[in-house]
Amino acid sequence: MKADLIARRISVLGATGSVGRSTLNIIADQRARNGEDSLHMVALVAKQNVADLSALAHQFRPDFVAIADTRYADDLSDALSGTGIAHGAGDAAVEEAAAREADWTMAAIMGAAGLRSTLQIANRGGAIAIANKESLVCAGALLMQTCARTGAKILPVDSEHNAIFQVLDPARRDAMVRIVLTASGGPFRTWTLDQMKTATPEQAIAHPIWSMGAKISVDSASLMNKGLELIEACHLFDASSEQIEVLIHPQSVVHGLVEYADGSILAQLGPADMRVPIASAFAWPDRIATNCQRLDLVQMAHLDFEAPDDTRFPALGLARSAMKAGDTACTALNAANEIAVEAFLAEQIGFLDIAALVDDVLNAGHPDGGPWQGAPKDYNEVFAVDALARIRAKTLLKQYQH
Ligand SMILES: NC(=O)c1ccc[n+]([C@@H]2O[C@H](COP(=O)([O-])OP(=O)(O)OC[C@H]3O[C@@H](n4cnc5c(N)ncnc54)[C@H](OP(=O)(O)O)[C@@H]3O)[C@@H](O)[C@H]2O)c1
Repeated sequence: MKADLIARRISVLGATGSVGRSTLNIIADQRARNGEDSLHMVALVAKQNVADLSALAHQFRPDFVAIADTRYADDLSDALSGTGIAHGAGDAAVEEAAAREADWTMAAIMGAAGLRSTLQIANRGGAIAIANKESLVCAGALLMQTCARTGAKILPVDSEHNAIFQVLDPARRDAMVRIVLTASGGPFRTWTLDQMKTATPEQAIAHPIWSMGAKISVDSASLMNKGLELIEACHLFDASSEQIEVLIHPQSVVHGLVEYADGSILAQLGPADMRVPIASAFAWPDRIATNCQRLDLVQMAHLDFEAPDDTRFPALGLARSAMKAGDTACTALNAANEIAVEAFLAEQIGFLDIAALVDDVLNAGHPDGGPWQGAPKDYNEVFAVDALARIRAKTLLKQYQH
């Protein structure tokens, strides 16, 4: 462990969220171990939670704070008055925060809304600890190209991708046969379709293992999260969707596995605590100590794996099809899912309607009549497809609203 290899200038986008807080927990712990001055906070970003964002700003003393929702601009100014901390509101302020030079930036904004800031980081270089999988789902190929050009280093934070990142030897990439992403199966793993039909947002969010934000919790319950992760993994590890298998593993102890040509399978195990992959991405290529609870393998006794049920969880198949159709279809899938999950959380549609609506949007195709397929030529096309798919989804949503 070398303290001098720890990144020194840090930004956290999505600071008030589940991943953002776990990240700041690691940073506070590192400061306590290595001295307050060992890490410099460059920027903190959130959408609307002024109270928590300003409390974090008082604690971490960043150079700049951005809040996306302009309705909270004055509240943020009031809360930071007298601190000397520069701040701003609106999407431009979020992009300014992301563009500020930092050695390591946590991209943990929720949804496709995080793409513009991920792009800012990719353009300026440095390490991008990427939790915001939707950036890769919508613009994976373009982002990988941008990072290759600028030298920005993508460090996966999703626990499964971080696991693969740890066990996939780039020098032996040709010998990789298959990647396995594990899924807990979520709260409805053993539910019948009839039970799932009447599932409430509260039940969907009550994840049996992980504590996460509302949207990703619903995605975990529908297995759309694993579908998005499959697309994410294809981009991160330059793999085809056929090379990526998903297995249900209810204990969530083995997070990812890589099988090599000789039959060996290497896996990463760890507690279901996001601070472990965050710490790994934070210290990469070194290791730092964390206060996370250790795994007790004896107490665990056994590990179960099972194939996902495509009938009860069609979202995974939809993501596989979208990946085959290209990045444009993936952007449409993600946009439709964001609209559907929002409507489900607002109790406007049922749980099973989420995948049904996404399927409808993929089938309905582009408003000009053609299918969602191929690769967008630039980021503007990604934003345009995202907007069009949202319009499509909002129109088709009406048939499910009760
Ligand atoms: N939670 C996990 O364990 C986990 C694991 C792996 C990957 N991820 C991924 O990490 C990302 C964040 O997940 P989460 O569970 O941490 O979400 P979350 O708890 O809902 O937090 C989302 C964060 O993003 C901010 N935000 C939302 N929209 C924004 C916008 N338009 N502009 C600026 N900031 C915005 C929110 O601010 P406010 O609080 O002000 O709304 C909050 O800080 C997602 O892409 C998710 O898929 C999460």
